Amino acid sequence: MDLKSQINLEKLPRHIAVIMDGNGRWAKEHGMPRVFGHRNGVKAVRETTEACAELGVEYLTLYAFSTENWSRPQTEVNALMALLVETIKNEVKTLNKNSIRLKAIGDISKLPPKSYNALRSAMEDTSQNERMTLVLALNYSSRWEIVEAAKKLAEQAKAGELSPKDIDNDVFSNALATQGMPDPELLIRTSGETRISNYLLWQIAYTELYFTPVRWPDFRKEHLYEAILNFQQRERRFGKTSEQLT
Ligand code: IPE
Ligand code: IPE
Ligand code: MG
Repeated sequence: MDLKSQINLEKLPRHIAVIMDGNGRWAKEHGMPRVFGHRNGVKAVRETTEACAELGVEYLTLYAFSTENWSRPQTEVNALMALLVETIKNEVKTLNKNSIRLKAIGDISKLPPKSYNALRSAMEDTSQNERMTLVLALNYSSRWEIVEAAKKLAEQAKAGELSPKDIDNDVFSNALATQGMPDPELLIRTSGETRISNYLLWQIAYTELYFTPVRWPDFRKEHLYEAILNFQQRERRFGKTSEQLT
């Protein structure tokens, strides 16, 4: 039986988060400059998005550019920003055809104006789509997001709109960039690295982590199905004992 048909659609993660990693190494392995890897990563973005939408995943969050990625060589940063504009412009039509809404988390106001504008208009053009939400983490870092949430809540408290004793998990979650989204049930990182790299630290408190050696440009629908099947075999205990679950 093929992998897709083995997936239990009743137990599908509502939200999948991905750390798309390994573009640079993939390029090097092909004797090409790093940017070649980024360009080839676009196909994997397309495949993953399409596969998630077909299955009925509600949210897919892709780590596209971290706050820390600004420290890369300027030529690579420029190429990534240019690729972002190009890809977004090319994909809006397909997003609309498949009823996928585009969202962003991260400090997008700090992106170069061209990237920012392309992103803004794509988000606006897809805002009415309801089948799936594709979230791009751009100039994102989890510590930045958490600090911003703390500032927002402090401002509300200072203005007398919020009492500190009312701050609980829900209030805090709603102050984050992922406000209104369920926490990811599954986090996939490609390329063999087994770290989180400042991604969704609050949101992944109980997320199942899946690491694959596949480099991002090689990631295809079948790899996603493998990850989901692996996820579906796990027992999610949330602190309880195994016996309590049955
Ligand atoms: C992920 O691939 C893409 C971004 C971080 C933008 P990398 O560029 O990190 O590839 P490696 O990890 O160097 O192979
Ligand atoms: C994480 O990948 C960020 C993105 C995938 C956009 P990195 O390749 O930047 O992570 P580190 O620095 O190796 O942890
Ligand atoms: Mg990397």
